[in-house]
Amino acid sequence: MSRLDSFIRRLEAQRRVLDWAAASIAGRPGLVLELGLGNGRTYDHLREILPEREIYVFERNVSPNPRSMPPTGRLVEGDMAATLPDFAARHGRQAALIHVDVTTGVPERDRTLFAWLPDHVAALAAPEALVLSGWAIDHPTLAAVDLPDGVPTGRYFAYRRQG
Ligand SMILES: C[S@@+](CC[C@H](N)C(=O)[O-])C[C@H]1O[C@@H](n2cnc3c(N)ncnc32)[C@H](O)[C@@H]1O
Repeated sequence: MSRLDSFIRRLEAQRRVLDWAAASIAGRPGLVLELGLGNGRTYDHLREILPEREIYVFERNVSPNPRSMPPTGRLVEGDMAATLPDFAARHGRQAALIHVDVTTGVPERDRTLFAWLPDHVAALAAPEALVLSGWAIDHPTLAAVDLPDGVPTGRYFAYRRQG
């Protein structure tokens, strides 16, 4: 498969998973956290499908498409290794949905490079919160959840926060 085909499949999987996740958290209060603003594509999709939610976006290199700039107060700028624990100290476990979209594009590399991230994600996820990630997360409090039909195996991962 060419890298272009792979990229298209990743975006299709992202949209399907985000739509599924938005429906899954209906009726469950809580924040939505977008880890990795990048160009702002998935943030823009989340705010469109979840217009009533408070969505916080984390990014150290803020340079999205101008139409996808989060409002003041909802953008948490800086290295997530520091900003996530700060945010957890202020808000606690209030997130109903966390989308982990920090990636180098190489999942094996991501698991090593972002080995510090799962603990911070777990510290922000409310009981039964949904966590989505482009790479597999191994954490004792996050139980794997089946993805919707049509998402190729290994393309995306979903977890439910236990307790
Ligand atoms: C794959 S991009 C996000 C794509 C975005 N969700 C979109 O749809 O356009 C990953 C982003 O994570 C950011 N990032 C990576 N490591 C980070 C860290 N330690 N702290 C904060 N941001 C980080 C990068 O700067 C990059 O913009």
